[in-house]
Amino acid sequence: MALQPRAGHARSIKVAIVGAGSVGTTTAYALLMSDLAAEIVLIDIDVARAEGEVRDLNHAAHFAQARVRVGGYADCVGAAAVIITAGVNQKPGQTRIDLLKTNHALFESIVPPIARYAPDTVLVIATNPVDVLTHSAARLSGFPVEKVIGTGTFLDSNRFRAELGSYYHIHPKNIHALIIGEHGDSQLPVWSLATISGMRLTDYCAQAGVKYDQGAMDACARRTKEAAYEIIQRKGKTNYGVASVLVKIVEAIVTDGDAIMTVSRVGEYEGVDDIALSMPCKVNREGAHQEVPLLLNESEKAALRKSALTIKEAIAGLR
Ligand code: 2OP
Repeated sequence: MALQPRAGHARSIKVAIVGAGSVGTTTAYALLMSDLAAEIVLIDIDVARAEGEVRDLNHAAHFAQARVRVGGYADCVGAAAVIITAGVNQKPGQTRIDLLKTNHALFESIVPPIARYAPDTVLVIATNPVDVLTHSAARLSGFPVEKVIGTGTFLDSNRFRAELGSYYHIHPKNIHALIIGEHGDSQLPVWSLATISGMRLTDYCAQAGVKYDQGAMDACARRTKEAAYEIIQRKGKTNYGVASVLVKIVEAIVTDGDAIMTVSRVGEYEGVDDIALSMPCKVNREGAHQEVPLLLNESEKAALRKSALTIKEAIAGLR
């Protein structure tokens, strides 16, 4: 499957980004350099700040095909994707769920006008807590569930693969291992389906003459879960990881790529309905149009249900 935009395709593609903070602008830069879009619109309540960012970004546009401009919600018309990054960030010691009330209130003002101007777009949500806000965005937009995608545990899965890659001294691309559930403290690793070079981890270890150490594996999962806390402690925010995930999601949308990614979308999970969490989904121009069901073992199913209930409770707390 070609992952390049079809010939001439990029020329007509518009992507809007709501929020000119560090996630929004890092995403705008990464998207600009990816040549996936012809037009990138940056929208922020602080227009002067957005202007400053856009001027700076357009000095990089010399080396790319797209042009970046400041816009309002009306400029979302015709956008293939609208990325929402606006909202308050975690401070050291805060969980993602702690941000919920403030960021949900913001979504009440952001999502309806986007839905009005861009009824056919795919909404891509990065603002935390991303699962609950993906649910909010689906409700506030009235869009079909596949058209509202949260970055979810796509980022955690990448972090997890990096952790395992560094432990086994193998490039993360050659490791298939997923984090599913909440992009937050109740997330879970799917050990039963984790593979290296097509082999389960225990089989890989036996073949490679390495001792399989579950304690070390658990430490990889723990570091994955705590990664954002550790970064925020040091630099006050995270931006590059989530921006790269956003660009990959946009790539799957604008290339109609049918890429499988652990993104968040509204559905029923382990008997808990009307919530959003991450499971592997096929993503193309229709959005996260198909969940790829996983053959989880009983303890993974129980952990996924617990994660789903955590999100359900947070959603209920908004009412
Ligand atoms: C991250 O995991 C904070 O959710 C953001 O990087």
